[in-house]
Amino acid sequence: MTSLRAIRLWTCLFVAALLAGCGGPASLYDRVGGFETMVHLGDSLIVDIGRDPVLRERFRGFSWRDIQRQRSANVAFVCAIAGGPCRYDGPDMAEVHRGMDITDAEFDRMIALFAAAARRASPDPVAADEFIARFAPLRAAIVARPGGQTTARTRD
Ligand code: HEM
Repeated sequence: MTSLRAIRLWTCLFVAALLAGCGGPASLYDRVGGFETMVHLGDSLIVDIGRDPVLRERFRGFSWRDIQRQRSANVAFVCAIAGGPCRYDGPDMAEVHRGMDITDAEFDRMIALFAAAARRASPDPVAADEFIARFAPLRAAIVARPGGQTTARTRD
């Protein structure tokens, strides 16, 4: 092998090793803990909402089937928001929450539950905060009465 061919070969091997080793920066979905974190979030939210004296009123009258559906929709939704491989194919957030008269205070409370669950589940607290920041723009679609007080509309 001529020295020029040897140099070329080593250069190619070096570049290939770099590409394979680096593989680009990890996605937010991976950094936040992948599907394990998403499922943990889905489960935690159901339990945490059930314990929250304000938010649980919104879900009064939900059947077991309703709760399961809510859990699955939450997992798919948060997974898609994190940039994961899931697809949320339910109605958009404005449509889902239309007519519920949701207040800023309720939205903040829900975000606080999301954030606490994400921090508990994620191996990377910085990624957890980055992930939760992606929920902030949803306020405009979900909150009907900026600054308003809670008058929960339920299924009862
Ligand atoms: C970042 C904030 C929020 C997110 C990401 C979110 C997400 C979702 C998702 C994914 C669903 C299921 C939609 C489907 O069936 O496909 C849903 C339904 C629902 N959400 Fe939210 N939500 C948020 C805030 C809130 C707040 C603040 C309240 C009330 C205070 C609320 C009350 C409800 C209720 C009652 C349903 C069930 C609607 C029904 O099936 O009749 N959500 N939400």
